[in-house]
Amino acid sequence: MQITSPFFSFLFFFFWQLNILVDTGSSNFAVAGVPDPDVTSYFNPELSSTYRSQGIEVTVKYSQGSWTGVLGTDVITMPKGLYGSYTINIATILESENFFLPGVKWHGILGLAYDALAKPSSSVETFFDSLVKQAKIPNIFSLQMCGAGLPVSGSGTNGGSLVLGGIEPSLYTGDIWYTPIKEEWYYQVEILKLEVGGQNLQLDCREYNADKAIVDSGTTLLRLPEKVFSAVVQAIARTSLIQEFSSEFWTGTQLACWDRSEKPWSLFPKLSIYLRDENSSRSFRISILPQLYIQPILVIGDNLQCYRFGISSSTNALVIGATVMEGFYVIFDRAQRRVGFAVSPCAEADGAPVSEIEGPFTTADVASNCVSSVSFHEPVLWIASYALMSLCGIILLVLIVLLLIPPRCQHRYTDNDVVNDESSLVRHRWK
Ligand SMILES: *[C@@H]1O[C@H](CO)[C@@H](O)[C@H](O)[C@H]1NC(C)=O
Repeated sequence: MQITSPFFSFLFFFFWQLNILVDTGSSNFAVAGVPDPDVTSYFNPELSSTYRSQGIEVTVKYSQGSWTGVLGTDVITMPKGLYGSYTINIATILESENFFLPGVKWHGILGLAYDALAKPSSSVETFFDSLVKQAKIPNIFSLQMCGAGLPVSGSGTNGGSLVLGGIEPSLYTGDIWYTPIKEEWYYQVEILKLEVGGQNLQLDCREYNADKAIVDSGTTLLRLPEKVFSAVVQAIARTSLIQEFSSEFWTGTQLACWDRSEKPWSLFPKLSIYLRDENSSRSFRISILPQLYIQPILVIGDNLQCYRFGISSSTNALVIGATVMEGFYVIFDRAQRRVGFAVSPCAEADGAPVSEIEGPFTTADVASNCVSSVSFHEPVLWIASYALMSLCGIILLVLIVLLLIPPRCQHRYTDNDVVNDESSLVRHRWK
């Protein structure tokens, strides 16, 4: 999960009357276990006869915020359809930093990514894996996030649905297009191309996947690798009909305001992301209209509506976050190792759709593989850091040895030797 600004989007669903952030970018299930100034209620394990503490401490860091808690297990009963009781891992949060933000009405997080990301190790079975095993539901869940074109309030999105174990036909229209999951940790996918207002950005497709492209419901915005971000901002600024824009709008530190009677959306271009199809010689594109990425956030006075830019830059990933996901019904088909996208009926503003899916397109114009084979995942980083550490050690050793060796070779200057460059040149010449 990544909280990139004080304003972020999430889904609510109810467990013991607690609101849980649904996060496809992490893999631990955790709830507040003690009172916190920023949470209105919490889970008290002492009141649960089925709770078992494992006494193992765990810390999870997100791109912003972190928490420390204790691992345990408890028995849950699921609402709607999944009748029965299931034993799942649950961490009770005892301490946190920038996690429960003021004014935010959620009390925990449900990490729905793969066990490779579970902390402290992948042996902590994830919530969804436990459910699939015990409830014998298909290994697939789907997520419809709603809120397109609606004001972003401090308390989150405007609702949505999480379907565990399948696909709900009423939550989408048209076809579902699937892209393969490249590696099972985050939901990592392969992006082939980006278009702004129908114009190809023309970057090397590896830039779009630097160093990974993931689908993450816990991230508020569409995040782009720095190079891609600046190309997109340039293209939007060029294509938009707006004379001049302060750079602070693009970096997210300033809002742009218009009279309430005039919506600014017609001034901005459509944004399209091409994903590789299951048939690797094909692709499809998901497009978001400005209603999704120019987001109303604040009203000033009687008639000024202010908007933020729903795209930000990232140093290590392209993240398809809530900004994009609000346009689609997204299917996490783990059984067939693929992520599906379909147009979502709640993705409309003023009666008009704000997202599109089209395909198939040929992939003849892009490389056969846009995901670099040397991906800097954590194990590789560890090896790299160990290698660097040993290198430092060797250099240190050499320096110590040099310091200990008596300076025999050093030339000792006497008064006669003190010459400036010019005179030494002259002397050489005369020799
Ligand atoms: C994959 O797509 C190509 C190009 O559209 C097509 O010629 C080929 O038959 C497809 N392969 C399969 C297995 O569907």
